[in-house]
Amino acid sequence: MKLLLTGGAGYIGSHTALLLLQRGYDVIIYDSFVNSSYKVINAIKSYLDADGIDYKLKTIKGDIRDKSSLDKIFKDSIKEGNAIHAVIHFAGLKSVSESVKYPLNYWDVNVCGTKNLLEIMKENECYSMVFSSSATIYGLTNSVPISEDQKISPINPYGKTKVAIENMLCDLFKSNMNKWKICSLRYFNPVGAHPSGLIGEDPIGIPSNLFPYITQVAIRRINLLKVFGDNWDTEDGSGVRDYIHIMDLSEGHIDAIGFLMSKESIYEVINLGSGKGYSVFQMIREFELSTGCEIPFLIEARRDGDVANNFADISKAENLLGWSPKRSLKQICIDGWNWQRNNPQGYT
Ligand code: NAD
Ligand code: UD1
Repeated sequence: MKLLLTGGAGYIGSHTALLLLQRGYDVIIYDSFVNSSYKVINAIKSYLDADGIDYKLKTIKGDIRDKSSLDKIFKDSIKEGNAIHAVIHFAGLKSVSESVKYPLNYWDVNVCGTKNLLEIMKENECYSMVFSSSATIYGLTNSVPISEDQKISPINPYGKTKVAIENMLCDLFKSNMNKWKICSLRYFNPVGAHPSGLIGEDPIGIPSNLFPYITQVAIRRINLLKVFGDNWDTEDGSGVRDYIHIMDLSEGHIDAIGFLMSKESIYEVINLGSGKGYSVFQMIREFELSTGCEIPFLIEARRDGDVANNFADISKAENLLGWSPKRSLKQICIDGWNWQRNNPQGYT
């Protein structure tokens, strides 16, 4: 089966691509490399080569806003007699703070880019998509665990673009309910790295998320961690989140593709998380215990837009996809540290 992975060179796309290739899928990665490095492609290839796996991977540099470039990929595949069966649509911009500064860029890339892609898919009769949505769309006011039917109320432009895309996908499905098969996966907090240490998360600049910040403190690229508040209404006063191992998340995509392929037509939104909440202090402790690295920290004021407690109800993913997360917080720390230690400066 042939899959197009937009944004397939990014953090989540690269881990999913590797897993798909290992399982015999034919993969095209389409990426502008605006937030990723070509080195990730070489890392994927070297892992598969070392494993003696025969794989089919094509990488194309391009922007999802470039319709003619997208169209050529679909048409070339049809000409080769091996049409694209489905798209996993990772491509997009994902920084909350940047989206506040440059909202038009976020609407252009995320929303207009997705509209372009859907138009080209329709023209080329490819009707199946797994879309990267985000738990950020639930906003501030939900009770935990968060299920898919809770209120959607994004508080930043990034989250608003994800809601707009989900709405566009739902409208498209309703316009032709016999054809489209679409699944929006709402990720909670993807963290960690491939166990080989060859691929992992490589944020540009100072990380804004907790886990890459911790690994950069561990490697001493950053002096100390700032904990955003120790007076939240949680067991130890620090913020609680749902950290999911990147390999569990990647497996969720493969199950989502299998789910779509088993249906005549479908539209679903599905949470992907670990289903468990861990606090910042628990994360620091587990990282120190699992890796032997000390993580110095100080307590800072709360960060704007944060909530106390946020974790997923994952029963829908378990029931519909037959998926469940397998890896522990300890495994997350070990694999994340392995990647950071082997690549102190990331891909650069
Ligand atoms: P990432 O930035 O590592 O990957 C996104 C990829 O898309 C990058 O390789 C980037 O170069 C590419 N890209 C960006 N704009 C593009 C364009 N116009 N055309 C083609 N390619 C383009 O991010 P990620 O963490 O792998 O996230 C993947 C998807 O999952 C994104 O849509 C993101 O919003 C979503 N998501 C991520 C998280 C997270 O915490 N990482 C959480 C929820 C949802
Ligand atoms: C953040 C974004 C969210 C986005 C998600 C994944 C905000 C307000 N929210 O969510 O929209 O979907 O990333 O990209 O930006 N923490 C620290 N010190 C740090 C970093 C984080 O104490 O240096 C704390 C936070 O306050 C939080 C927890 O660690 O309690 C996790 O933070 P983070 O990794 O940024 O994830 P989210 O807050 O879930």
